[in-house]
Amino acid sequence: MSINKSTCGLIILMLISANSIAAGNIEAGKEKSATCAACHGPDGNSSNPTWPNLAGQHTEYTEKQLHDFKSGRRKNDAMAPMVMLLSDQDIADLAAYYAAQQPRTGVTQPENVELGERLYRAGDAGKGLAACMACHGPNGTGNPAAKYPRVNAQHAIYTEMQLKAFKTEERANDQSGIMRDVAGRMSNDNIKAVADYLQGLH
Ligand code: HEC
Ligand code: HEC
Repeated sequence: MSINKSTCGLIILMLISANSIAAGNIEAGKEKSATCAACHGPDGNSSNPTWPNLAGQHTEYTEKQLHDFKSGRRKNDAMAPMVMLLSDQDIADLAAYYAAQQPRTGVTQPENVELGERLYRAGDAGKGLAACMACHGPNGTGNPAAKYPRVNAQHAIYTEMQLKAFKTEERANDQSGIMRDVAGRMSNDNIKAVADYLQGLH
C-alpha cells in the first residue's frame, strides 16, 4: 500500500491531537495540587512518613492509583474523599505535575543495607521470591509503560505499610495479584529491610 503526502500529514495530525487530549498539563496540575499539598507537600515530598512522596512518580502509575481510589479498588479513608470530585483531566494534570517534581532521597540504616539490597537485587530463590529489580529497575525508578512504579526515595514507613497491606491482601489493586504474590513470600523482617533500603536508593 502506498500512502501519499496528504494522507500521511492527516495521520500525523490525528496522532498529535489524540495525544494532547490525554496529556496532563503541569501548570494546571500545580494549581489543582493546592489541596493535596497539606499531606503530600507542595513539591510532592511529604513531611509525614505515612503519607507517600509523589515527586518523580510516573504519570501512568499515579493516574492508575487515583482512578483506583475513585472506583474503590484501592481503599483508604484519607484518599477516598480527595479523589471523588476529580475529573479524568484533573487526574492527568495532577499526575503530570508530580512526575515533574524532584524526589528527595532519604537514608538507609546501615544494618538494613545488606539484606535489603540482596532481596531487592536477587530475591530469594528458596522462597520463590522474584528480584524486585526485575520490575522496579536497578535503581528503583520503575517502568512507566508497564505501570511498575518508582519505589526509590520513598518513606520506609509508607513502603512497609504497603507491602504488609499487599501481604494481607488489604491492598488488592495490583494487576494480576503481582505484588500480593511477592509480599506474601516475605517475612516482616524482609519487608522492613527492603523498605528501608528503598528509602535510601537513588
Ligand atoms: C489528608 C491527607 C491527604 C491528602 C489531603 C491527600 N492525600 Fe494522597 N494519600 C494520603 C495517604 C495517607 C495515602 C496512602 C494511602 C494508603 O495507605 O493506601 C495517599 C496516597 C496517595 C497516592 C498513592 C501513591 C502511591 O505511591 O501509590 C496518590 C497518587 C495520592 N495520594 C495523590 C493525592 C492527590 C492528587 C491529592 C489531592 C487531590 C491527595 N493525594 C491528597 C493522604 C492524603
Ligand atoms: C513482576 C513485577 C514485580 C515484581 C517482581 C515486584 N513488583 Fe512491586 N509492583 C509491581 C506492580 C505492577 C506494582 C503496582 C501495583 C498497582 O498498580 O497498584 C508494584 C507496586 C509496588 C509497591 C507500591 C508502591 C507505592 O507507591 O505504593 C511497592 C512498595 C513495591 N511494589 C515493592 C516491591 C518490592 C520490595 C519487590 C521485591 C521484593 C517488588 N515490588 C517486586 C510489580 C512488581
